[in-house]
Amino acid sequence: MRDIIIAGNWKMNNNTQEAEILVEEIRQNVRSINHVEMILCPPFTSLSKVAELTKETNIKVGAQNIFYEDNGAFTGEISARMIKELCDYVIIGHSERRLLLGETNQVIGKKVVAAIKEGLHIILCVGETLEQRERGETQLVINTQLAESLSKVQEFENITIAYEPVWAIGTGVSASVEDCKKGIRTIRSIIEKMYGTLSMQSSKILYGGSVNPKNIESLLSEAEIDGGLIGGASLDPENFVSIINKSELFYSKTSIND
Ligand code: 13P
Repeated sequence: MRDIIIAGNWKMNNNTQEAEILVEEIRQNVRSINHVEMILCPPFTSLSKVAELTKETNIKVGAQNIFYEDNGAFTGEISARMIKELCDYVIIGHSERRLLLGETNQVIGKKVVAAIKEGLHIILCVGETLEQRERGETQLVINTQLAESLSKVQEFENITIAYEPVWAIGTGVSASVEDCKKGIRTIRSIIEKMYGTLSMQSSKILYGGSVNPKNIESLLSEAEIDGGLIGGASLDPENFVSIINKSELFYSKTSIND
């Protein structure tokens, strides 16, 4: 048996009013879901609204980023301590932050430490760009991203890795199942090297990049893929609920460790 994780990364979309409408539509249609861990990651501005609307439901909430300091003169930043009163999850190291905002593995590593200190569950994103893929550097890139951003982490706990090849994000073209498996195997072997076999076996690895209701089944048919980090399709209630419903059917399928 394996529980699937489906997380919606709304990115910079939806004001609070739009967030409310979206959550209402999702909430009503996922009441009978028992085996998919559903996580909504709205922008900071609607985090509190989404937390309120999902209280005592089967939906969990996460932020899309944090800063690594607890508080202080860091204009515009939000700390782990601040989001902890609203949600239990946080996405760290998304490629859009790496590429558009210059986040390095070192910065990401500090954020990971800050999130752990607050007891947040981390969704740590890794993945190669098209150029890196074409140069045959995929494994090296994933290795460096994980090794550097987890360098201060003693135990691999409360961390879910999302493999998000940059070239598959927002393009409408998902990575092939073979590419996903290759990336995810690389991630698991690095976790094993860093934290041992037990941590590797209990690790949850998601895939992200143009996941939609049409390709979710073929992705989840692979025991190695524990769920999805969904961008565009998470903004459409029909698509997101459809992804969740299809994922629920995979509960009884065997897990990688069976
Ligand atoms: P898309 O699903 O829009 O490709 O985005 C994936 C992503 O970046 C999730 O974090």
